[in-house]
Amino acid sequence: MIERILNFPFENNKSFFLFGPRGTGKTLWLKSKLSSCIYIDLLHSGVFNDLEARPERLENYIPKSLS
Ligand SMILES: Nc1ncnc2c1ncn2[C@@H]1O[C@H](COP(=O)(O)OP(=O)(O)OP(=O)(O)O)[C@@H](O)[C@H]1O
Ligand SMILES: [Mg+2]
Repeated sequence: MIERILNFPFENNKSFFLFGPRGTGKTLWLKSKLSSCIYIDLLHSGVFNDLEARPERLENYIPKSLS
């Protein structure tokens, strides 16, 4: 496993964009830093089609314990 030197940019729950070339470890890095967060993968066609058709279904992706 290659150790990343990227600093974790979260402050006061602010959002951020993480840009980078394909396949350079963005997803793996986020999942390692935010292992308890909700992860919605819009590259998964089932998820994308579901939310594109009915965006209000986004709440279905939030565990009941958090809503
Ligand atoms: N720190 C790391 N050390 C070793 N392998 C890694 C590391 N980060 C990612 N990889 C490997 O590189 C591959 C791509 O990683 P990942 O899917 O996280 O990239 P990505 O930037 O999210 O790609 P995409 O732009 O396609 O979404 C995966 O096989 C992953 O296991
Ligand atoms: Mg990715």
